[in-house]
Amino acid sequence: MSTYFFASSTYHRGQLAAQRSDMTVSVLCRARIAEAKCVLDVGCGAGQTLRVVEGLNPTASLIGVDPDEEACRAGQGENGRIFFIQAEGEHLPIADGSVDFAICRVALNYMHQATALHELARVLAPGGKLVLSFISFGYTLRQALHPARGGVGQALGNFKDLLAGIALQVLGSQGRRPAFWGRSVPYTSCDWLRRRLRKDACEIAWLGCEGYYLGCATIWWAIISRTK
Ligand SMILES: C[S@@+](CC[C@H](N)C(=O)[O-])C[C@H]1O[C@@H](n2cnc3c(N)ncnc32)[C@H](O)[C@@H]1O
Repeated sequence: MSTYFFASSTYHRGQLAAQRSDMTVSVLCRARIAEAKCVLDVGCGAGQTLRVVEGLNPTASLIGVDPDEEACRAGQGENGRIFFIQAEGEHLPIADGSVDFAICRVALNYMHQATALHELARVLAPGGKLVLSFISFGYTLRQALHPARGGVGQALGNFKDLLAGIALQVLGSQGRRPAFWGRSVPYTSCDWLRRRLRKDACEIAWLGCEGYYLGCATIWWAIISRTK
């Protein structure tokens, strides 16, 4: 059984069009992407968000990181100016403080979150920014109550994600990927994120919600700054 949660090539292709019209562009502009010199996207898939960035900032160097070899290869084949690295968000092969703008769009939840956030903070230069979007309680609750795909296995997996999210928020613990609980996608809360970021000299400068289910946020967007 694969220990990663990879997305399909159809998903990556579809996201390029979607991100040109959803919240992505407005949040990147709010975080002043046009002023960035080096933009890193962790969990970049085939580089769909960085392709949007290409149009917003014509000069920054663009680096995409994803463990999915096929997605990296597909992105590299598009002939853009993005440099792809096949690697995990939990182990970024990038020097300390070398990036002034990072993006992690609906990908953090598929990683060991505390480790990946620590890595993102490590590679950010002081004053650097991170645009982060993440799955929150409402999304996972909706998946558990109304699974998007059928099958008993999928339904049980969705409940496991819900329990893993509660464990992360309440106990602060998340399983490692090869272990049983590590093969889940725990949701993230703004409170947990704020507490976690403080340990790495980062703070949330802006928060925006993309949608709600039964009054609970589904996806949050955050602009995070590295303070020192
Ligand atoms: C839902 S897709 C989002 C892709 C892209 N960021 C976007 O917004 O369209 C989640 C991505 O996270 C990647 N991913 C899964 N596990 C990862 C890990 N441990 N480190 C970095 N990326 C990971 C997947 O390969 C996939 O490309």
